[in-house]
Amino acid sequence: MKTLTAIALAAAVLVSGSAFASADLAKKNGCAVCHDATAKKMGPTWKDIAAKNKADKNAEAVLVAAINNGTKGKYGKTAMPKQPKAAADAAALAKWILTH
Ligand code: HEC
Repeated sequence: MKTLTAIALAAAVLVSGSAFASADLAKKNGCAVCHDATAKKMGPTWKDIAAKNKADKNAEAVLVAAINNGTKGKYGKTAMPKQPKAAADAAALAKWILTH
């Protein structure tokens, strides 16, 4: 019975999909303090970031580099500090941001 429950839970997590998983990643890594899908906070919205980078075929790498190294003045006067704690999740976050 326990095993069945575990399997059902694992399946539920798989089915819930990457959108939720990555929204959770953004929360876990503190991104949501400065970013939201559509609400302007200290940082540009995920939608703005996706729109600005979508045409670039290296978009994913550009975003990963931004997360790892920070950026300065691409969207205005505020810089983004490096996000070293998110390094392991940077690729997943970049992919997810580009889906907005
Ligand atoms: C302290 C606030 C802050 C936090 C925390 C933060 N950001 Fe940002 N982010 C910004 C600001 C401000 C900009 C715009 C910088 C600029 O204009 O160059 C930005 C820009 C970006 C960009 C755009 C890069 C580009 O080249 O278009 C990405 C991607 C990004 N952030 C992802 C993240 C992710 C993922 C996290 C969490 C790991 C995160 N940010 C955490 C403030 C923040």
